[in-house]
Amino acid sequence: MSTIDREWQHGTTRRRALMALAGMLAGSPLLRAQLDPRPLKDHRRALGLDEMLTAFDFEPVCFANMTLRNYDYMAHGGDSEFTLRRNREAFEWVDLVERPGVAADAVDPSTEILGVKLKYPMFIAPSTRQRDCHPDGDVAMYQGATAAGTPMIVASGSSIPIQKIAEAAGGPRWSQFYPIESLAAAREQLELFQTHGAEAIVVTVDQQAAYYERDLHDRNLGGAPRAAGERASAAAARATRGPALYGVDPRRLWYSWKYLDDIRPFIKGHLLVKGIVTAEDAAICVDRGVDGIIVSNHGGRGLDYEPSTLEVLPEVVEAVRGRIPVLVDSGFRRGSDLVKAIALGANAVCLGRAPRWGLGAFGAPGVQRLLEIVQAEFRQAMALTGRATIASLDRTAVRTNFR
Ligand SMILES: Cc1cc2nc3c(=O)[nH]c(=O)nc-3n(C[C@H](O)[C@H](O)[C@H](O)COP(=O)(O)O)c2cc1C
Repeated sequence: MSTIDREWQHGTTRRRALMALAGMLAGSPLLRAQLDPRPLKDHRRALGLDEMLTAFDFEPVCFANMTLRNYDYMAHGGDSEFTLRRNREAFEWVDLVERPGVAADAVDPSTEILGVKLKYPMFIAPSTRQRDCHPDGDVAMYQGATAAGTPMIVASGSSIPIQKIAEAAGGPRWSQFYPIESLAAAREQLELFQTHGAEAIVVTVDQQAAYYERDLHDRNLGGAPRAAGERASAAAARATRGPALYGVDPRRLWYSWKYLDDIRPFIKGHLLVKGIVTAEDAAICVDRGVDGIIVSNHGGRGLDYEPSTLEVLPEVVEAVRGRIPVLVDSGFRRGSDLVKAIALGANAVCLGRAPRWGLGAFGAPGVQRLLEIVQAEFRQAMALTGRATIASLDRTAVRTNFR
């Protein structure tokens, strides 16, 4: 080997040339294309549908499938989220009284509300933006609910047009409605819902916040805040009068009880009012000829520091005195939660976020499975409290220790 050859083999020039080549290759998209773009590191297995044991198991799977912004829109409560937490805590303040003597297969949990035959005393609560959870949105929710024998209340702001939802399954269906100031527009919307099979109309009268702190804070996590939230806070900054001044969506807070009389002629079937939390307002509804009420604080999304619905349920039931059915929602996740509400006088319970977790986790089969889990828990809790029928599930099945 000549001196020149030796220098080339061992000298710095060759080493530098090789390093340059290696650097070029390492940066080459061609080389990178051969590699796994996402090297596997920590192993976290997502649970499958057949591994779901309680409604709570669906939430982390749903969370993992959604963007943070959409998840937070669903999960948030108003302001400091005290009422959101209290809705859940209240179940810990009601004990179930165990009584032997009834086998689970002897339990008959069926009932009937406003002409709707129910396998279990439960409904799907109306909720908007279901496509945030799953591309098939309200269609999959309706299919899953129908497969589990649970009627659905479709939100007025459903993310899929009512026509398409109506075609998706055959189960009983009600429609929810937010007051619209123009009676002509209200009539048009109510007719649309009823033409497409809504057997009853649920008018929501509670006042949820127009923007949500959790969503707005998401801007710090790299997500843009919700557009409506931005609009509402910007409007609040500019407003000199009206609801926008208080950060309240101008579509809320403008009507009075008379509005129920105004829209009544447009409703062919039953009219229910959702968002009742006091004996006084329950009595007003009965006096106005409303056919049913839903005790609801919108899942803790409205006025923060109002009590849980379970706490106010007994006073509402007392005021209604059995004249119309009383439904309840906000915080219900377990079969035993439902047993407590029925024992305290509710005729049925609506589930809001829970079936959305089923939807977000596994689509229609997830909704069905989640509802079936809650139903099985309900049946079990009825058996353990010694109640074979819904009618026998009375106040003696519970002891309340509300704080
Ligand atoms: C994401 C989301 C959207 C909702 N949209 C509506 C709606 O459009 N109309 C309505 O009356 N209630 C709406 N609600 C309230 C529910 O009907 C129900 O009152 C509440 O979810 C019950 O509480 P829970 O989620 O703890 O079960 C919504 C709730 C959530 C979580």
